[in-house]
Amino acid sequence: MDKYAVFGNPISHSKSPLIHTEFAKQTEQALQYTAIKAEIGQFAEAVNTFVADGGKGCNVTVPFKEDAFKVADHISERAQLAEAVNTLTFNEDGTISADNTDGAGLVNDLQSHQAPLNKRILLIGAGGAARGVIKPLLDCQPEQLVIFNRTHSKAQNLAEHFADYGNITAMTEKELEQSTGFDVVINSTSASLSDELPPVPATIFSQGGFAYDMAYGNKPTVFVEWALSNGCQTSLDGLGMLVGQAAVSFEIWREVKPETQTVIQALRQS
Ligand code: ATR
Repeated sequence: MDKYAVFGNPISHSKSPLIHTEFAKQTEQALQYTAIKAEIGQFAEAVNTFVADGGKGCNVTVPFKEDAFKVADHISERAQLAEAVNTLTFNEDGTISADNTDGAGLVNDLQSHQAPLNKRILLIGAGGAARGVIKPLLDCQPEQLVIFNRTHSKAQNLAEHFADYGNITAMTEKELEQSTGFDVVINSTSASLSDELPPVPATIFSQGGFAYDMAYGNKPTVFVEWALSNGCQTSLDGLGMLVGQAAVSFEIWREVKPETQTVIQALRQS
């Protein structure tokens, strides 16, 4: 059986083995997918051991998304721009290819819910999670992509970094207050993990608009609920993005596209 894994530290909480095992069943692929805890500073060794043991590919999560760069021979443009790798493929010729499927996972989930990605999008946050999704969002050719972050200079840096790829601007809190509502609002901050809202006015939402929180939990996040109570028609958490990024990795490895909605439903119920 072909072997795949997710590397992280800690890793016991990971839903990736469950998701990929479901994909394998659904597409009738004979593969095994496990979670491997690598020691900090020993990512390359852990990967070598896995490859020697027949590993064909892996996902990479915190804190190894940068270490994964160093072991790769070929790196996709979207991973380079994201400055993070979440998918490695161990090729027959001994080389390693690296990619980042987070942004594609988000965009696929947004599109499957008919989010108007060609209109005005607000992305809140300017950390690693935001950086990973900007290029795929700009590939949807939004009328405008605005980045807002609590620390404005980081939003400005990101807007400059991606300026060649589309209409991207950083806004201050004051500018946001003066702006009209956005068609799609995406929260990439880690604020939801501590039940907090980012410092943005409720006027960012538009009536009947679309909101997305990249975080997820056992219940709707505070951001998801806040968006609904401020006129959004659709407000989703990041479980679909999690399954979506896994699906894109699976397709890279197995050249078959798994169906995501049934897996998202199964995870919600579990
Ligand atoms: P990640 O990889 O999850 O993006 P990160 O790189 O540490 O993690 O970035 C966290 C992001 O969440 C940043 O944009 C951070 O804002 P600052 O740059 O101002 O620190 C944002 N963030 C975290 N907690 C927040 C909070 N309570 N309110 C607003 N923004 C918050």
